[in-house]
Amino acid sequence: MLNNKITGSSILVTGGAGFIGSYLVEKLLKHSPEKIIIIDNLIRGSIENMENFIGNPAVEFIEADVNDAALLEKCISESDYVYHMAALRINACAADPVNAFDTMVKTTFNVAEFSRKYKIKKVIYSSSASVYGLAQNFPTPETDNPYDNQTFYGAAKMFGEQLFRSYKHMYGLDYVAFRYFNVYGPRMDTDGKYTEVMIKWLDCINENKNPVIHGDGSTTMDFVYVEDVALANVAALLSDVTDEAFNIGNKRETSLKELLEIMLRINDSKLKPVFVESNTVNPVSRRLAENKKAYELLKFIPEITLEEGLKKLSKWYFEKIKTAVK
Ligand SMILES: NC(=O)c1ccc[n+]([C@@H]2O[C@H](COP(=O)([O-])OP(=O)(O)OC[C@H]3O[C@@H](n4cnc5c(N)ncnc54)[C@H](O)[C@@H]3O)[C@@H](O)[C@H]2O)c1
Repeated sequence: MLNNKITGSSILVTGGAGFIGSYLVEKLLKHSPEKIIIIDNLIRGSIENMENFIGNPAVEFIEADVNDAALLEKCISESDYVYHMAALRINACAADPVNAFDTMVKTTFNVAEFSRKYKIKKVIYSSSASVYGLAQNFPTPETDNPYDNQTFYGAAKMFGEQLFRSYKHMYGLDYVAFRYFNVYGPRMDTDGKYTEVMIKWLDCINENKNPVIHGDGSTTMDFVYVEDVALANVAALLSDVTDEAFNIGNKRETSLKELLEIMLRINDSKLKPVFVESNTVNPVSRRLAENKKAYELLKFIPEITLEEGLKKLSKWYFEKIKTAVK
């Protein structure tokens, strides 16, 4: 049995029924924590995501709104560590900034405040590469400035990072923030703004229809496999590193055109892309993470290649479609 800071600890995971959160809980359980409390209102997460651990006696799942401050305070008062992952997606923030303010800003403040009050040993905060907007440098180091971000979501994530930083300096609250790039894998959101294209193309492969690329397919992303992201989160708790923000990407820049080629190849498909005019202007045309800092301070290296990850994603998605049809 592994024996470390997680062993015997109580850990709160907000958003633990979600895509990344559910993998994180699986990885944490390997280290025998005393208790994992999950708060999730299932607006995006699901019981299905948690099927590998929902019956585990160490897991307490609370189906509730993380914006319920009294509940949040109670859960934090019973915890040693906090992962704050509950958030609205980028397009949901744009559609409803009032609600987004509560979830992304006010509740993040509550997490910091209660964590200080109950002497939480470390908060691990899910930020995003969205803080960069269109970055200045590629690969993008953590020192790139966030002033090109144009989204509420990115603004809220930046606030969160800076808030925890101020709580570290005012009160000594230890924290680590992660700027994930384009996370993908089984259980992923099937209509997320940046990654939805993978699911659309898998649908085309399944239906044997030529997949559509809007624009010339030159937009690039840095796709990182979800289990690697979960492992980075575990490493942050185990290490003594504090007061740092880390990029979590794969350090591989992949254009949409190239992504589609790989997806067709690994699925033995002879389909051909159809290029149509783009109907939207994408303000973020490139993404590529510099991952040096996460390696140097957390010994984190992404392990799953894009080809391996896409095979796992395809298998999961095709099985999901098959069972839905039955
Ligand atoms: N997936 C990505 O590519 C990506 C990239 C950058 C950052 N992130 C961040 O990582 C974290 C996890 O993202 P994910 O991809 O797993 O998304 P997700 O939507 O699957 O997970 C978020 C979870 O939070 C829950 N939630 C949202 N609002 C809530 C509320 N008010 N009360 C209780 N629960 C609530 C949702 O039901 C969901 O299960 C988020 O903070 C997200 O902003 C994700």
